[in-house]
Amino acid sequence: MTWPPAKPIEGSSIRLWCISLKDARAIADIMTPDISRWLASWPANPTVEAVTERISRAQTAIQQKRELHFRIEERERNLTVAYVSVAQSATDCKVGHLSYWLGSAFQGRGYMTEAVRHAMAAGFQYLDLETIEAGAQPENLTSFAVMRRVGMNLIGERLVWADSRQRNERCLFYSVDRSAFQRSALPENVKLSQDRTSDGNAL
Ligand SMILES: CC(C)(COP(=O)(O)OP(=O)(O)OC[C@H]1O[C@@H](n2cnc3c(N)ncnc32)[C@H](O)[C@@H]1OP(=O)(O)O)[C@@H](O)C(=O)NCCC(=O)NCCS
Repeated sequence: MTWPPAKPIEGSSIRLWCISLKDARAIADIMTPDISRWLASWPANPTVEAVTERISRAQTAIQQKRELHFRIEERERNLTVAYVSVAQSATDCKVGHLSYWLGSAFQGRGYMTEAVRHAMAAGFQYLDLETIEAGAQPENLTSFAVMRRVGMNLIGERLVWADSRQRNERCLFYSVDRSAFQRSALPENVKLSQDRTSDGNAL
């Protein structure tokens, strides 16, 4: 596979595009206060310039094969609906951290569950992860529902620094390992390779 992937990952209702600088406007447009309040590092109503900078940092991490960042597009109308990322942990490169958000006009249709499944499969495959975890504020029930639908289980709680609110927040964390994900939540059209190249990356 070429890096970063030039073609999108095709889901049944959405497709996942590797993030690009030209996505900044569409992403900024759907990052509203009702979404931002649940996220540690996305301020509400960001400027296009701020999102462009963020995407530029994401692209560096993608090139270094440390992170994956996707713009999620609704297949039916080619509309940008969401953002999903999987990033290697700074302390353990076998652990990935999943983050996701969905524009409020597009919720309740199953888009995020499908997008997260594909993003996690790509994380296990291309970042060579053994475990993927995600955290959310205890009141964020729709987020925990997504985590459970993709095979994750509660592992505990941690304090997370919420940069956009300049405070620590208590979050509950869920995780799933590669084999459990493969058994319970792998998208039907995806196969995780067990083989590794000499540099340790999945084929
Ligand atoms: C967390 C978040 C992504 C969940 O969004 P969501 O729309 O509930 O999740 P999905 O897109 O997977 O949709 C699932 C819902 O669609 C429903 N649905 C409707 N049609 C569907 C279909 N054809 N297929 C699958 N599900 C469908 C499901 O039943 C489910 O609703 P339910 O939980 O009431 O049963 C969204 O609330 C969000 O972005 N919140 C703010 C940011 C955030 O919290 N991020 C997580 C922290 S990392």
